[in-house]
Amino acid sequence: MPIANSCSYLTSSGFGLELNDLDLADLNDQTRDILVKAFYQSGGVLLIRNQQHLTPKQLCDFAALFGVVEKNEKYNPDFLLPDYPEILRLGTLMEEGKRKALWIKSDEELLWHSDDTFRHPQPIGSCLYCLTAPKEGAATWYAGMNHAYDALSDDLKKRINPLTAVHSYDHLNELLRQTNPHRPPLSEELKANLPPITRPLVAEHPVTHNKSIYATNIHIERINEMDDKQARELLEELLSHATKPEFAFAHAWQPGDLVLWDNRCTMHAPSPFDDNKYERLMYRLTMNGEQIVGAVALNTA
Ligand SMILES: [Fe+2]
Repeated sequence: MPIANSCSYLTSSGFGLELNDLDLADLNDQTRDILVKAFYQSGGVLLIRNQQHLTPKQLCDFAALFGVVEKNEKYNPDFLLPDYPEILRLGTLMEEGKRKALWIKSDEELLWHSDDTFRHPQPIGSCLYCLTAPKEGAATWYAGMNHAYDALSDDLKKRINPLTAVHSYDHLNELLRQTNPHRPPLSEELKANLPPITRPLVAEHPVTHNKSIYATNIHIERINEMDDKQARELLEELLSHATKPEFAFAHAWQPGDLVLWDNRCTMHAPSPFDDNKYERLMYRLTMNGEQIVGAVALNTA
């Protein structure tokens, strides 16, 4: 246990850790060290509640414990918290008829993914901080890919260990266009800037050296060593295994909640809410850092 008498697991497999009685506004070297250790021991998700009082600076300092915090250059500056480009606002926030937060309406179907696996380097993780939560809906699901990998049969581990998958932003975009025809195809420029990337199907974490299933189905265009049908069947099998209740949970947000996740060993999925009825505002900070082992093999297939 990283913090005696003040933490609890979020799933029966031991994936996910809630830390209690912790004030992120009042950290010292020892508690900072405990937080980082707890993050890696958790299998990649920490939940810390009751942090309503945090300042933007304290939030940035917290995120910086885990990696280099991004400045969100690729987003509309209107969505960033003034004076804190590290903080991207997500949700329904409007001011004078203008959107002041990135608004992405979630599907009913859970779109499990690990962020930006089609990008190299991939962001290593993010933290979400809740300011305003709808009374119903808008939960975020998390699944622990390391705990899910450990529970696979030895035969299946042996079968998937050597496989490699092609992750593609174009593939994701075309998939999303099937349910949202107004979404434009990727421009040739964007396709050239974000070529498909080959990654191992089983990832070794650079810090813990634990192995994880690393299979964001919606980003994977193909598995190099298999035909399409075999690949889709395998990916479906891995996803349904990895999102079983013992490896996955839904977090129903309250203001002051903070969740930190590691893209190298977890997946997550948003769920919808009625935006005609409720408002939502979250702050998201994203970190860069050490990549999964074997993630450098780029191709332009
Ligand atoms: Fe995401």
